[in-house]
Amino acid sequence: MNILPVEIIKKKRNSFKLNKTEIEDFFKEFLKGNIKDYQVSALLMAVYFNGLDAEELANYTTTIIKSGKTFDLSNLKGYKIDKHSTGGVGDKVSLIVLPIIASLDIYIPMVSGRGLGHTGGTLDKLSSIPGFKTQLKEYEFLNILAKEKGVFGAQTKDFVPLDKLTYAIRDASGTVESIPLIAASIMSKKIAEGINGLVLDVKVGNGAFMKDEKRASILAETMIDIGKSHNLNVRAVLTDMNFPLGRTVGNALEVKEAIEYLQGNKHIELSKVVNKIVFEMLEMAGVKTQNIDSLIEESISSGKAINKLKSIIKAQGGDPSIVDKPNNFSQVAIKKDIFLNKDGFWCGCDTYSIGIALISLGGGRKKKEDNIITSTGIEFFTSPGQIINKKEPFARIYAENIEALNAAEQILLKSVNICKRPIERKLVIKTIK
Ligand code: URA
Repeated sequence: MNILPVEIIKKKRNSFKLNKTEIEDFFKEFLKGNIKDYQVSALLMAVYFNGLDAEELANYTTTIIKSGKTFDLSNLKGYKIDKHSTGGVGDKVSLIVLPIIASLDIYIPMVSGRGLGHTGGTLDKLSSIPGFKTQLKEYEFLNILAKEKGVFGAQTKDFVPLDKLTYAIRDASGTVESIPLIAASIMSKKIAEGINGLVLDVKVGNGAFMKDEKRASILAETMIDIGKSHNLNVRAVLTDMNFPLGRTVGNALEVKEAIEYLQGNKHIELSKVVNKIVFEMLEMAGVKTQNIDSLIEESISSGKAINKLKSIIKAQGGDPSIVDKPNNFSQVAIKKDIFLNKDGFWCGCDTYSIGIALISLGGGRKKKEDNIITSTGIEFFTSPGQIINKKEPFARIYAENIEALNAAEQILLKSVNICKRPIERKLVIKTIK
């Protein structure tokens, strides 16, 4: 190795600009095993504090893309589109959008990540389905995409391996909430997929990495700019993450909720986000119809979307019978109904803490090697803004042991605000193109 990793770390630590060769060489040597996780973690922390300018970010993103193979989808005729979320709590939108888009005969090759920080990850949710495989070889990913129009993939040792490794290090080293690191992580995967269009769901609020609209807009614009320089058409939708999204938080619980959604049992707030994302995707794909909402509705009411999900689960080695019997899979040892001590309206939530409650239940990681318990989580019986009746259960906790359940209960009770008046929520904040 002809670089001194510690000199590169110190350069960024001292707020100097890294050149292309330094960025490429540092991560090339890391991939070869010559640079340790703790050194990468130190560099990422220096980036967290000192940022990357546009040129450094472009070089870092390209280094991630080139760390593995990229997909060539040119033999598939038609528009190829994807969506990606910047991370939320209870965010199961990808599990719902993918089968809807694929059922409308539009290609959606989706590469996702596992849980990051206090937020959940699509890969962890899918891992709750018995047998379901996301670590696909290139030919498996492409064959499933060609046949089903949709596929759920992951970063692998061949596809954006640098994102796979740095993602896990960021998760365990407090370096997630950085605009350049999030932008490079997301955009590298999406550019490497070989798609034509991308819709980003940029979460804003106390359960998101971007706590306010200003930072969320900067993140959105940063990703749109990276897309432009790689000829990828990108739109970003800013959506509210000041409450958990939908009825459930927890891997298997969220898969069940997504299945029920596609069977017609929709949580209203979740449907506002789903419909907006699908709307933008269909518009980008050039779908000409007066009423995109009714197209989405038809894909669900006709059973096309749920059948598509079933068929993709089967194609990816999973047990498709969970679609017919969602209550039969992933049972937990203990369930407890949680009551609040006063009546009123659910007017505020410390959503970050709900994400932490899931980690304390074993549904997320404390260090990068941890195995997660996918069956644990929280089910809410009240929607944000709605009436809380102290005689009726507010939520149910699903746990594997009593200590974890007690810890999660304490966190949950502290995270809920009750007011005298209902609140209005704006789920979709704005769209940036
Ligand atoms: N999703 C990603 O893929 N990466 C991030 O950094 C955040 C969300």
